[in-house]
Amino acid sequence: MGTPRMPRFDVTIAGELNLDLILYGLPDELPPERELLADRMMLTLGGSSSIVAHNLAALGSRVGFQSRIGDDHLGRIALEKLEQGGVDVSRVRHVAGATKTGFTVILQRDTWRNMVTYSGTIAELCWEDLDLDYLIDSRHFHLSSYYLQRALRPRVVELLQRMKASGLTVSLDTNDDPDDRWEGGLLEVLRYVDIFLPNEREAKLAAGTEDLEAAILRLADIVPLVVVKLGPEGALGQRGATRFTSPAWRVEAVDAVGAGDSFDAGFLHHYLRGADVPTCLAGANLAGALSTTRSGGTEAFRDAEHREKFLAGRGEPRSVKVPPFL
Ligand SMILES: Nc1ncnc2c1ncn2[C@@H]1O[C@H](COP(=O)(O)OP(=O)(O)O)[C@@H](O)[C@H]1O
Ligand SMILES: [Mg+2]
Repeated sequence: MGTPRMPRFDVTIAGELNLDLILYGLPDELPPERELLADRMMLTLGGSSSIVAHNLAALGSRVGFQSRIGDDHLGRIALEKLEQGGVDVSRVRHVAGATKTGFTVILQRDTWRNMVTYSGTIAELCWEDLDLDYLIDSRHFHLSSYYLQRALRPRVVELLQRMKASGLTVSLDTNDDPDDRWEGGLLEVLRYVDIFLPNEREAKLAAGTEDLEAAILRLADIVPLVVVKLGPEGALGQRGATRFTSPAWRVEAVDAVGAGDSFDAGFLHHYLRGADVPTCLAGANLAGALSTTRSGGTEAFRDAEHREKFLAGRGEPRSVKVPPFL
């Protein structure tokens, strides 16, 4: 008997790859037919799946990424940014045709934002685009933006079953449902998820109750570990009857675009290094906080000097080498 081969990746992700255009300084109300001037802009890597992938790689995890983009400039720029971040993008498919690479415009106000998305290729990524052997060659599989993956969604249960049957652990961050219906078999999907990573609003909607406590307990009945992101309040974790809480870090926030996705990256990075739940939560809050210090979801991670100084200055939790807790 030979020794089992080390998987090629720590995490594989199948999902959306697109850019975010963030505009700052616009009025809260947008009157029609007026020329409204933004005072600052940032064109940056967007899409929950690609932000998680990018930031996991920046933290030092080995990441493989599958996606579909159009044959257009914006798709190529997004791909280049992800590749520069150290993510393996060899399985990203370029599909020429009328559908262009997805794109999101974010109008960032002081404490809130509008988000407008052209789904484009995001909604067209499908089962046939996936190379399952590639996705399986990993310790963990992560899925983001469940409700944007319209073509893939009908086969997500099958996909997660395949991942689990191959010995991978699985995490899911649904992000928002643009239809605000929270259907599409989510509860069935959750049966194959080890770590569910919603924010507070998403946790309530996924569980179908306005009461956060009831929502957490309902979700924790299905998923071994539920992690709820609480914005500037930090986060909590629920594993069975055990509750973990972890405060946010105090930072001068530029925007919270991609903070939840960066949080996911921080959590998974520590989880895969064998850390316990409190350490994973602290590392996740730190990654979320880091994300808020620069525009968008990846700029603070791209700048290695800024990133390392920020993390080291706050005593980034050191992961102890123990078997993963799930
Ligand atoms: N203003 C902030 N200061 C410090 N950390 C923050 C701030 N906003 C968000 N975070 C961090 O980012 C995480 C995710 O943010 P949140 O807005 O809850 O998620 P999502 O982006 O999915 O809605 C939080 O749990 C926290 O760790
Ligand atoms: Mg989110």
